[in-house]
Amino acid sequence: MSVFAPARVNLIGEHTDYSGGLVLPVAIDLGTTVAWQPLDGLVRVRSLAFGDVVEIELDGGGIAAGWSRYVAAVVALLHEHGRPGAGIDAVVSSTVPIGSGLSSSAALTVSVALALCRAASFEIDPLRLARLLQEAERRAAGVPCGLMDPACVLLARRGHALLLDCASEEYRHVRLPDGISVVVVDSGVRHALEHSGYAERRAEVERGEPRRLRHVASENERVRLVASALEAGDLDALGPLFRAGHDSLRDDFEVSTPELDLLVDLAYEHGAIEARMTGGGFGGSIVVLADAGAAHALAASIVAAYDDRTGREGRFFVCESVDGAAVRP
Ligand code: GLA
Repeated sequence: MSVFAPARVNLIGEHTDYSGGLVLPVAIDLGTTVAWQPLDGLVRVRSLAFGDVVEIELDGGGIAAGWSRYVAAVVALLHEHGRPGAGIDAVVSSTVPIGSGLSSSAALTVSVALALCRAASFEIDPLRLARLLQEAERRAAGVPCGLMDPACVLLARRGHALLLDCASEEYRHVRLPDGISVVVVDSGVRHALEHSGYAERRAEVERGEPRRLRHVASENERVRLVASALEAGDLDALGPLFRAGHDSLRDDFEVSTPELDLLVDLAYEHGAIEARMTGGGFGGSIVVLADAGAAHALAASIVAAYDDRTGREGRFFVCESVDGAAVRP
């Protein structure tokens, strides 16, 4: 059997999840696959990307470093939440670039978790599982992240964005207009600051620092407006909202980088419907919506101009929206 768990890109609602705000991510057709068979008494996982095998006890014990910390944290948390001790022999492969802000870690934790649950015939509500995997990320990597990534990877629907209220945990699927592509352009910059910077921003929000709170409040309002504009098919409304979202992340929340700022400017110059940085920031990618017919050429010209101006190598993905993670026979 196998599980496919998609990556996600957030359309808007950035750094709002951990204060109970609104987010609007989309699951995309990059993802992580776990193929497994039952194994007695042990979770054995081989990573095709890293070429190594780890063996983890059914309560999450055993030696775990690097990518396998995520697996060990998932095994441990599912054990703590009552998963019966069924082992698996699994192979993990992935098309999600690491460090691009597409939540490769949620694709990994969700795919492993669904395999473990199915192997043990253990039923768990998707939102409860998402909360558990939010905790797994904190245990494995020390990042005090929010609910958005695992919730999107579990609950997304093809052709839609997921509008999630991270306080009430109510959600609904917002239809994406026809003829539009979601494009991710990766700046190729990964700042070492990311983990500490993320935790610092979260602490600043919790302390109530005015500029950080101003971002959160204005961003929540933008999510509402973007969801309405998408539903009304009012594409003209999107550009200014995404522009304001990016500027707020740059100026009020201070998580953008010069490279992301440049990519966003280039995207608008080259005819994007909207563009802004996406994910936690301090590097990573921008998200662009573009007319489907022009998306590939648009993305290529943004990357060419970016490479020219910075001497870096950007790259892009023209994505399809997909359903959330599922077990396949
Ligand atoms: C990371 C975290 C998410 C969210 C975003 C910022 O992706 O994992 O929980 O906070 O950053 O919106």
